[in-house]
Formats: sequence, structure tokens, C-alpha cells
Amino acid sequence: MKGLILSGGKGTRLRPLTFSTAKQLIPVANKPVLFYGLEAMRDAGMTDVGIVVGDTAKEIEAAVGDGSRWGLTVTYIHQNQPLGLAHAVAVSREFLGDSEFVMYLGDNLIRSGIGGLVEEFKRERPNAIILLTQVPNPGEFGVAELDGDRVLRLEEKPKQPKSNFALVGVYLFDLSVHHAIAGLRPSFRGELEITDAIQGLIDRGMDVRSHKVSGWWKDTGTVEAVLDANRVILHDLVPSVSANATLDGCRIDATVSVGSSTLKNVIAAGPAIIGDDCKLTDVTIGANTAIGDGCSLENCEIANSILMKNSTLLGPLPTIRDSLIGSGVCVRGKSTDARLVLGDSSQIDI
Ligand code: TTP
Repeated sequence: MKGLILSGGKGTRLRPLTFSTAKQLIPVANKPVLFYGLEAMRDAGMTDVGIVVGDTAKEIEAAVGDGSRWGLTVTYIHQNQPLGLAHAVAVSREFLGDSEFVMYLGDNLIRSGIGGLVEEFKRERPNAIILLTQVPNPGEFGVAELDGDRVLRLEEKPKQPKSNFALVGVYLFDLSVHHAIAGLRPSFRGELEITDAIQGLIDRGMDVRSHKVSGWWKDTGTVEAVLDANRVILHDLVPSVSANATLDGCRIDATVSVGSSTLKNVIAAGPAIIGDDCKLTDVTIGANTAIGDGCSLENCEIANSILMKNSTLLGPLPTIRDSLIGSGVCVRGKSTDARLVLGDSSQIDI
């Protein structure tokens, strides 16, 4: 069985971050989202993994390399335009050959992993397995109309959802999906939809099974979802303080991980993570915060946020909360007027 991770796409909902960063490389608890997917592949016993890449190919290739770090052999598959999930499978046809495969959306996180599904697929040989979970906002996802566990219909981001069961971004397919994709036309969004391909399988009486996800699942497509994912992963993290960390006058909760960094007069509530080579002075860290490597913070408070590597926060500043801040960012506080140098689609709440 092969693995296929989709890491192209437009990432419009995560602008401006996605102007300069692949959304799959946005760090959750200081680790790129995509790495969790690669770990899930490895843990399910997969060795041969294809990664579909688009405009951000170079960045993804630099971060993942040949996959040997995970014991995987990674093949990069270039998708010239993000024309849909089913299009991504179509361009991967040569890599996939006649293998069954797991398709995994590179911006998804699934706590239970995929090992159990892969086992079931190998044992029972259905044509496809899809994963479902209940969400409050089904109109933003692919949605399944169900009769018990039987899938009657699938619709991509429907205006009037028929249920609140959303498709989780992990799918298992046998060869028959390629025939279904070959017959697809672009949807109203102009994309070849994987939901239409699966609908084609259902219509032809193929064995399409659905599973409800046990434990959490996160699609990190929006700022809120990234922060949510950060919160749940931090919650599960086994905390550790590096032997090379220097702590002076600090009160650090036992649920905080600290890398080889220098902290002076820091109060930190957990769960939280502070990376390597950071310098924090007179700082309060609130729960659910991830500070990337090489950050400098002085005289400020940050909570429920992600600060990516090599960024600076220099107080006095209002409390930074619920924020997603890119790498190499500098925020300096002043008590009166503000000077702003902001990229397109930046969002500031003062
Ligand atoms: P989506 O989040 O559905 O799409 P997107 O990345 O274009 O984001 P937005 O809606 O904010 O513009 O994509 C899910 C995953 O699949 C994500 O990792 C990107 C990847 N993908 C591809 O690799 N090729 C594609 O053609 C599409 C649409 C997505």
C-alpha cells in the first residue's frame, strides 16, 4: 500500500501567512503540520509516500527532504495548478501505479492515527474507506448524507448541508477510484472533487465504507483551526525542560516544555512550548502558546498564540492573545502612536 499526501493547494484562508509559507509547514506545537502526517504514515507501516506539491514545492522539499528521517521513501509529484483533490490523485497516477493507497490531506491532523484503518482495508478489501466526524459548520467541508453507517451521498462544501458529518481528510482507495476520477467534470468551484469521485463509486454499487473518527481531528485551514490544533497537541505533549535551558527568577508550570533557551523573570502557564535559542526577559506566557526557535521577547505577555521562529516581541505591548504570527516578524510597543509596515491581507486588532 502506498501513501499520498496532498501538500499543494492555494491556502487562501490562511493569507497573509500563505503568501510566504506553505500552509502545511505552519508549526503546531513547534512542528510543521505536515510532519504529523508523515509520522502517521510511518506509524501505519507505510514506506513509499508521494507528496503532491504546487507553488510551494521548493519549501516543502527543503523541509521534508528524501523522507529518510521518518524511514520513508518520498517521491514529489508536481501539480501545475491546484485543480482539486481528485486532480491531485490523477497527476499521481504514475507514482501510484496499481497500488491501493491512503490519501492524506497535508494540512490535517488526526489523533487516532491511520494504522487501524490501513489494517481494516488490507483485511477486508473494500473499494474505499472514508472518515467522518461531526462538526458545527458542515458547509465548510465535504459532507456525507447517511443512512445509518451507509453513505448515500457526498457533497463538497454544500450551501445546505444534509448532515453535520464532515469528511475527514484521510481516504483509502483501491484502483477503482482512478476510473471514477477519469469520468469527472470540474465542479462549480472549477475543481475535480474527490467527493464526486467517491459518489461515482457509490453510484456504481462499489463497497464504500464510512468510519466515525474516535478522538479529535483538525483541519488546519484557518487561523482559528491552527490555534485549536496547537491547543490540543500541546495538551497531549509530554513536557520537558532542556538541560541547556537557563532559568533565572522564573515560575514555569510543569506542563511547559523549554528548549535550550535563556529565560529571565518569566512566568509561564501550561501547556506551552518554548523552542531553542530563544531569549525571554520579563515575559508572561499564557496557556496554549508555542514560541518557535530563535525568538526574542521582552516586557510582554502572550497567550493562546503561535509565534513562529526568529520573531521579536518588544514591550510595552497589550497582551498578545489568540494570534498567529509568522517568522521573522518584529512587533515593538510604544505607548502612543503606531508605525506599521504590513504585507497584503495582514490583520491587526489594536
Ligand atoms: P484545501 O484546504 O481544501 O484547499 P486549499 O489548500 O486550496 O485552501 P483554501 O481553501 O484556503 O484556498 O486543501 C486540502 C489539502 O489538499 C491541502 O493540504 C492542500 C491540498 N491540495 C492539493 O494538494 N491540491 C489541490 O488541488 C487542492 C485543492 C488542495
